[in-house]
Amino acid sequence: MNIAIIGTGYVGLVTGTCFAEIGHHVICVDNDPEKVRTLQSGGIPIYEPGLEELVPRNVAAGRLRFTGSVAEGVEHADVIFIAVPTPPLPDGSVDLSFIEGVAREIAACLTSYKIVVDKSTVPVKTGEKVAETIRRYNRAKVEFDVVSNPEFLREGSAVEDFMHPDRIVIGVSSPRPVPRMREIYAPIDAPVLVTDINSAELIKHAANSFLALKISYINAISVICEASGADVQEVANGIGLDKRIGRRFLDAGLGFGGSCFPKDLSAFIKIAEQLGYDFGLLKQVQLINAQQMDRFLRKITDTLWVLKDKRIGVLGLAFKQNTDDVRLSPAIEVCQRLLREGARLRVYDPRAMEKAKAVLPPGPTVEYVPERDAVAEGCDALVIATEWPEFKQLDLERARRTMTHPILFDGRNLFDPREMERLGWVYKSVGR
Ligand code: UDX
Repeated sequence: MNIAIIGTGYVGLVTGTCFAEIGHHVICVDNDPEKVRTLQSGGIPIYEPGLEELVPRNVAAGRLRFTGSVAEGVEHADVIFIAVPTPPLPDGSVDLSFIEGVAREIAACLTSYKIVVDKSTVPVKTGEKVAETIRRYNRAKVEFDVVSNPEFLREGSAVEDFMHPDRIVIGVSSPRPVPRMREIYAPIDAPVLVTDINSAELIKHAANSFLALKISYINAISVICEASGADVQEVANGIGLDKRIGRRFLDAGLGFGGSCFPKDLSAFIKIAEQLGYDFGLLKQVQLINAQQMDRFLRKITDTLWVLKDKRIGVLGLAFKQNTDDVRLSPAIEVCQRLLREGARLRVYDPRAMEKAKAVLPPGPTVEYVPERDAVAEGCDALVIATEWPEFKQLDLERARRTMTHPILFDGRNLFDPREMERLGWVYKSVGR
């Protein structure tokens, strides 16, 4: 099948590359000439495990190419996927101007029947608007169908998630595009759920909000664990073994961040409000997430007292493991709040240091340390802010020797409290 992907961010690039990998002919379109040039010359603008192998392989096989021209993409494709950003507006609703712009551009280029698929995360009823827009700007009155096909890719394991999804959701307003959509995904072994467009759009917001709710739930439990002397990890294991609940997304810590959960929650609350429902449950999810961060910082100030001129080593800048993405990263927020209190930071992340420099500029109070095990040198305390598995291999002995006091605030519960105590650390984690 000939496919165009409009928008070559995390979702678009992974989706386009994976479609090529399963045998389709794909053009990825982006309006950022710099990004297109990078991709055309063999570079990959983001870090996502697997892409560095899949992109060149599919380019070489002639199944994947990049362009700045929507017209070229539309001309090439039977099916056009929209994967452009849907950033939040100050009131929590979603800025749909990129989607609308692309819908108009596609409409202007239509010369034969196409399927236009929305992959970007959008509020319910957006598909209806996209169809309306294409109808309005499609002067040649060419036939088309609009489909909603939400993505469920996690950054850091997006290629794996694409190849082995839990489900594929296809939202349509008529049966016409269904066979082609099924054909596109035929090489992928997963249940296919065909719904109406509004339900498909809701599935995405409802799924992400539920996962965020699960995290806030365990974070709320972590507060009760701390107050009662219980261990949140034991509790998570205990409730997670119930198959109706499941253990995943029950890791207490600094809370969730990233480009999806915070934005999708606000957007879902907003669209619910517009539809006449006050989604108080999800407002609590947001509140618990914010309080979790406050509580962690309070732990640091309670222990270190005055932060001014204290040297603090921070391990982790990305919003989660296996990514270089720092958008709404809880780790960056920790750093910014420590800086506001006058602390001096030594920071390290295995992948996200370059991107972090834009939001956390290096200078007299922020030193980027190229080596993980050197971060602790001369520090009054160490903070773990991202759940990178490799932080578990931290050279604790070296860190302890080179710090003024061996204090570790573990915002991601990577170490065993008893073992840390045995090794002579003052160790504070979350909910244990
Ligand atoms: C999420 C959804 O998982 C994915 O299906 C959707 O398509 C996009 O949004 P992503 O934002 O890449 O993916 O990351 P995810 O792995 O879901 O983690 C989000 C945040 O929650 C991270 O900050 C992570 O640290 C945090 N988290 C996750 C926890 O605090 N505890 C957990 O148990 C799991």
